[in-house]
Amino acid sequence: MNQSVIVAVVNHTRREAEIGGYEAAAEAADDINSTYDVVAAAIHAQRSEVALVENATRGWDMAFYAIPFKPGDIILTSMAEYGSNVIAFLQMRKRGVEIQVVPNDGSGQIDLGALAAMMNERVRVVAISHMPTNGGLLQPAIEIGKVVKDWPALYLLDACQTVGQMPIDVEAIGCDMLSATSRKYLRGPRGQGFLYVRDSVCRELEPPFLDNHAATWISRNEIEIVGDARRFENWERSYANILGLRAAVAHANMLGFDAIWEAVSDRARRLRSALSENPNVMIQDIGEVQGGIVTFTHRTLTPQEIKAGLAAEHINVSNSSVFSTRFDMESRGLDMVVRASVHYLTTDDEIDRLVSALP
Ligand SMILES: Cc1ncc(COP(=O)(O)O)c(C=O)c1O
Repeated sequence: MNQSVIVAVVNHTRREAEIGGYEAAAEAADDINSTYDVVAAAIHAQRSEVALVENATRGWDMAFYAIPFKPGDIILTSMAEYGSNVIAFLQMRKRGVEIQVVPNDGSGQIDLGALAAMMNERVRVVAISHMPTNGGLLQPAIEIGKVVKDWPALYLLDACQTVGQMPIDVEAIGCDMLSATSRKYLRGPRGQGFLYVRDSVCRELEPPFLDNHAATWISRNEIEIVGDARRFENWERSYANILGLRAAVAHANMLGFDAIWEAVSDRARRLRSALSENPNVMIQDIGEVQGGIVTFTHRTLTPQEIKAGLAAEHINVSNSSVFSTRFDMESRGLDMVVRASVHYLTTDDEIDRLVSALP
């Protein structure tokens, strides 16, 4: 997190202690309200299309479970889909919905020809992780949107790993819903995310949970659901985190997403190239275009051993296992990979330290 994020979160928390939670929210109302504009500007949406939610998963869930599925409907997804999303698909499968996984092309990204061939009137949603949790693969979101737009299906993009890393334009992508987190490439606080829902589809989507903020109890037996993306929000939320998200997105908007993407791609390229010189290291990233998430395995050490060894050198990497991306990992015979994520802040020296720490 940059300083402006920390200041926003800490100051608001302090004001809650000094004057009270409701009072601090009232005092910060303009800034809280402008968070919608700041987020909308970052993804080329309207403020009415943004819901501020607890995390990417909850945003994605609110969108997914709002789809009025009926038995026989089809969910189309990619090989690299995220585990939590597939868990939701499998829950929906118990209600008679079919899951079809679009194969990869030779590069490892979704096969656009196969996607086009699998589209039909029964496809209710095309749900894709823009970049998976287990590697730098960047799915061709705009090209996917061009295929989906000729059909009645909704297009749900999990952009958890890409918002903050590269330019995201919901108009160019053509997605109906997009979920994102604050805590990753946006460099915002944990426990905060957002959901974009296109105005033109919002009223077809009835959220799985509604509260006093998402709907109004207008007469004894009637409710009225809010007309815009606020229907996906909760009344109770962390205003400190929302203000932290606002600061993080404002910072990224100021730097510019083209420049951020160029810097992230450059660092990732350098890391992959340096790693590839170590004969013990096998880079596991696939796809035509690869972003800042660099994954690899090692010929003699397990991913857990690599992670522990690097932690001892104060180098933080994480492990990503088959439980998060089973379709993809199983198809490649992988159980776990080491995940090293670079950002525009990552220095050449840090890349060298990581590479030279590996046997
Ligand atoms: C592709 C993808 N989607 C969603 C998530 C979930 O994000 P969060 O934990 O912030 O809800 C992750 C987290 O790793 C992810 O990699």
